[in-house]
This record gives sequence, C-alpha cells and structure tokens, in this order.
Amino acid sequence: MELKRKVGYEAANLIKDGDVVGLGTGSTTHYFIEKLGNRIEIEEISIMGVPTSYQSFYLAMNSKIPITTLDEHNVDIAVDGADEVDPELNLIKGGGAAHTLEKIVDESAKQFIVIVDGSKIVTELGSFPVPVEVIPHATRTVKDHLIAMGGLPTLRMAERKDGPVVTDNGNFIYDVKFDIKNPKKLETELNTIPGVVENGIFSQIVDQVIVGRDSGIEILK
Ligand code: 5RP
Repeated sequence: MELKRKVGYEAANLIKDGDVVGLGTGSTTHYFIEKLGNRIEIEEISIMGVPTSYQSFYLAMNSKIPITTLDEHNVDIAVDGADEVDPELNLIKGGGAAHTLEKIVDESAKQFIVIVDGSKIVTELGSFPVPVEVIPHATRTVKDHLIAMGGLPTLRMAERKDGPVVTDNGNFIYDVKFDIKNPKKLETELNTIPGVVENGIFSQIVDQVIVGRDSGIEILK
C-alpha cells in the first residue's frame, strides 16, 4: 500500500493548474485522486477530472474535484494503474473491470501516465489473464471464439459467487489466459469477435510509467 501511495502522490504533483485530468480506477489511483483533491483545496488550482468508472467518479466527488466529460473537454493528462507492464510499456488492465472506459479516456489524453508498484513490472505480458468485456447475450459465443484463439476463459464471478461481475456498462467479463507473443495483434484480434466490447490489452499508448520500489521511484519511458 505504501508504494501505491508513493506513486499516486508523485503523479498528483505532476498535475498543473488548468489541466483536465483523466482519473484512473483502482487502489493505486485512489491515492492519486485523494492527493489531487488535496492540492485543489490547499493550492486553489483549477483542475477538472474525467472519471474512468463510477468508482473514480464518486471518489472524485468526495475529493471535491470538479468533474467534466469527454464531450466537453479534451484530456491533457490521464493517470491510471495497471495489472502488468512489459518492457515496451504495453499493459494489461481491467483487474477492476473498468478497462473499456479507461481505454477511451487514457487513449484520448495528450499524455498518459501509468502508476504501479514494482510487482506489476513483467518481462512478458500474460501471467495476469486478459480481461475481456462481453455483451451478456454473447457470453457463450464469445467463449467459443476465445477458446478457438487459444485462450482459456473464465467468467469473472461476483465476490459472493452468486452471479457474474457486472461492469459499469452492464456487461460481463471473461478473464482469459493467453500465451501473448504479440500484444498489439492480440488486442486487435480480440476486438473483432462479435459481442466483445473491449479488452484489457493497452498496446503502445503509454508515455511514462512511474514505478514505486522500496529503493525509490523509477521512471520508465
Ligand atoms: C481497473 C484497472 C486498474 O488500474 C488495475 O487493475 C490496477 O489496479 P490496482 O491499482 O488496484 O492494483 O485496470 O480496471
């Protein structure tokens, strides 16, 4: 938790007066949003946030960050977490089931910064299964496609195990184990399956990764 806090605060200190900020989702961006709200209150800077989930929307509201939308503003800088980061700065995201809106907001930003602790840095993507958001009517047919592509899909279940996780968009999530040789190719192919809304591979859109380690902060570009 301490490393997540460290990188969250580090990223919040990069935000400048007047910025429109993409607000990522998860336990790491929680600290970023909290600190940003803190800076707005203390420094009286003018910032607007574009949330990437209901979770970050409510957190932003509670942190008194003025909220806007992509219809009204372009995003200057987006800050988000990740589940895996490879040496080319490709990501797997979606551990919090928010990757569809995250990808829309993060990709649109002039600058996209990822904040992670060192445990998320990998030599090759794929230990973490790829989250794939699926329209409920296509649950069975998408599963067949994923298996035909060499994937091992598991429908993500709610904590009480009494039904699937439902995303902010009203859809389900498959967590799919893949042997990932070419992240860009897999990202593109997954999105051609009818009924797939978006997948959690983010290839080649990151500008900078802030990594928290016990020894200090490392920047990957
Ligand atoms: C949510 C995400 C998160 O950014 C990712 O799962 C990392 O989460 P955390 O900061 O809690 O480790 O992609 O969909």
